[in-house]
Amino acid sequence: MNVTHIYCSSCEKEYQAHKLINLCECGKPLMVAYDLERASETLTRESLAGRVASLWRYREVLPVEDPNNVLTLGEGMTPLLKADRLGAELGMSNLFIKDESLNPTASFKARGMAVAISMAKELGVKKLAVPSAGNAAGALAAYAAKAGIPAFIFMPNDTPTANIVECRQMGAHVELIDGLITDCGKIVAERKQAEGWFDVSTLKEPYRVEGKKTMGYELAEQMNWELPDVILYPTGGGTGLIGMWKAFDEMQRMGWIGSRRPRMVTVQAEGCAPIVQAFAAGATAGADIPNAHTIAAGLRVPKAVGDFIMLDVLRKSGGTAVSVTDDELLAAVKVIGSAEGIFAAPEGAACLPALKQLLARGDVDRTDRVVLFNTGSGLKYLDAFKEA
Ligand SMILES: Cc1ncc(COP(=O)(O)O)c(C=O)c1O
Ligand SMILES: [Zn+2]
Repeated sequence: MNVTHIYCSSCEKEYQAHKLINLCECGKPLMVAYDLERASETLTRESLAGRVASLWRYREVLPVEDPNNVLTLGEGMTPLLKADRLGAELGMSNLFIKDESLNPTASFKARGMAVAISMAKELGVKKLAVPSAGNAAGALAAYAAKAGIPAFIFMPNDTPTANIVECRQMGAHVELIDGLITDCGKIVAERKQAEGWFDVSTLKEPYRVEGKKTMGYELAEQMNWELPDVILYPTGGGTGLIGMWKAFDEMQRMGWIGSRRPRMVTVQAEGCAPIVQAFAAGATAGADIPNAHTIAAGLRVPKAVGDFIMLDVLRKSGGTAVSVTDDELLAAVKVIGSAEGIFAAPEGAACLPALKQLLARGDVDRTDRVVLFNTGSGLKYLDAFKEA
């Protein structure tokens, strides 16, 4: 195992490696540090060719110590598809879609949960709990089932039906709450001690982001170690964005890539765009959005514990943050589907109207190599397409 320690993303306090831990004493997210020199003795760009086609191909930079604790349902190594027909509609020749809908439970949330629940198993967790907008819950239910650990899930009562059904069918305990994901989070925080739950909320433990960072490794590998110019990413809690940025840093330190970075673009929905507002205002943290609303359930995160990290990444990368309306993101599902044969989640589809805004503003050039992240499957949102 190459983990050296755990460190705070804000105050830099260090904690012992391989520990069951939630937030730092200061209340901010914790991250995992590796001995990358040691990791790169066996993990080389060339070594990847013969490895398993899942995120566990990067095992030297993942935190699980005993291979017997690895829980896998085939997560990661999703296709990076060249979107030529959609690109032609936009006058672009280098447009790609990273299609995360092919993950187990049909969203990118499988990556984070595969690693976090493997670690929970390794560290002897007896019960797991999560507040979720929907897809994280489905992924937790799946990996908790595989681990044989009971899962307690709290979701808003207007979460897409598919997420509620999948959690129940995978044996999780589901409670629907009259409120937002932040209200669900408060319930988990209040009850976890008495109930003996380990809280796997977004960025409130250090291992989900380790799973998510593999999107950054894969992108580099699939683009032959030349990162794209721009990445558009639908952002709620922000683990994907933060994880990919960490992966880029790790790969540079292992000598795999240079210092050039993609411009990272956060995409949010107009009814809940705390990062877009904070970015525009030059703020270092997001406000708590009242009455947050959007059909793209995964983007309905009114206040994210990692907001300051996301804002830092967007600025350091020379990127930006863009919001789109629900009408725009829903219409984009059909445009992407018709052009590319991908039935995108509304969150992923939101990247298309965001890209159009950036092209119109001149923030993205038509010759740029651009990657849109489709983070989930439209099949989870059938309720949203009743009229379409
Ligand atoms: C399909 C989909 N896309 C994007 C997001 C936002 O992800 P994150 O919270 O990691 O920013 C979610 C979160 O639930 C989601 O389900
Ligand atoms: Zn701290």
